[in-house]
Amino acid sequence: MTVSRHAGNYRIIDRLQLDRDAEISRLIDGLRATPATIEPKYFYDPLGCALYAAICQLDEYYPTRTEQAIFEQYRSEISTKIAEAGNCGTFVDLGAGDCAKAKLWLPLIRPQRYLAVDIAGPSLETALGDMASDFPDTEMLGLVTDFSQSLDIPSALLRAPVTLFYPGSSIGNFTPAAATQFLIEVRRSTQGGGLLIGVDAKKEKRQLDAAYADALGVTAAFNLNALRHINRVIQADFDETRWRHIGAYNEALGRVEMHLESAITQRVMIGGSLREFAAGERIHSENSYKYSRHEFDAMLREAGFSEISFWTDSKQAFWVFYAR
Ligand code: AVI
Repeated sequence: MTVSRHAGNYRIIDRLQLDRDAEISRLIDGLRATPATIEPKYFYDPLGCALYAAICQLDEYYPTRTEQAIFEQYRSEISTKIAEAGNCGTFVDLGAGDCAKAKLWLPLIRPQRYLAVDIAGPSLETALGDMASDFPDTEMLGLVTDFSQSLDIPSALLRAPVTLFYPGSSIGNFTPAAATQFLIEVRRSTQGGGLLIGVDAKKEKRQLDAAYADALGVTAAFNLNALRHINRVIQADFDETRWRHIGAYNEALGRVEMHLESAITQRVMIGGSLREFAAGERIHSENSYKYSRHEFDAMLREAGFSEISFWTDSKQAFWVFYAR
């Protein structure tokens, strides 16, 4: 059931419970499969969100600060591009988290409505509560949903033209086929507006390996914490001290892979039955695809976008695209 809560001058719509049973079956099936997999969304319980914020502060993890620098340098040029579609009706912030990135765009874009979308309801609620009084002319909405399966934003929430904002290179966490499908759904939602998206570039293996297996072990904690989260979701009994973090670039596939590797042979209770993991057996927890500018441009065109602009940093480590 969709729950709509009104609080102050913002509104939260919670659709997370809608597919709870299907989600739990997918999680159990993934863990019982060989090779075992989990979806990256299991990183983001409250502790996982805090660990991700810490990752973004690491010297080794360049994407966040590189994207931020591109946004800072080109914000007014990008805003002018967005304004070519007309006054923004809805600014949709996909994976909004604490809404910190969107906060810097709202004064320039001045949308009629800001729709923050995220799987983590508590972060959205706090952020919208803090922001609402700073933007009295913008209607503030939060949508708590998992858009990794499909971008199913109720059309009643979208006023044209729509700008979809998808920063942080999270598009890399989809497979290329799923990313194209997602971009098709995004294009349909734009209603004459466009998509502003951050995409991580292909680069040397050494730099990517360091970004996903940092010296302080913050990414390791982020990966292992997914096991604690899963224990709560399906009453499993993973012991994170018996697992090791693996994060490394697979050059052939153009993606960083994160895995949880079993340190010993062990049995884990999953969905009411025991699953044996051999020593060295892995649970694949995340892919983070990296794209050349041409690869991502082609993907946008395949999804039906035709007017495409891009901005980058001096090392071409990260791309920002605006596409209509
Ligand atoms: C959210 N996403 C874009 C991050 C990434 O780089 O793929 C998640 C992450 N995983 C490990 N470090 C950061």
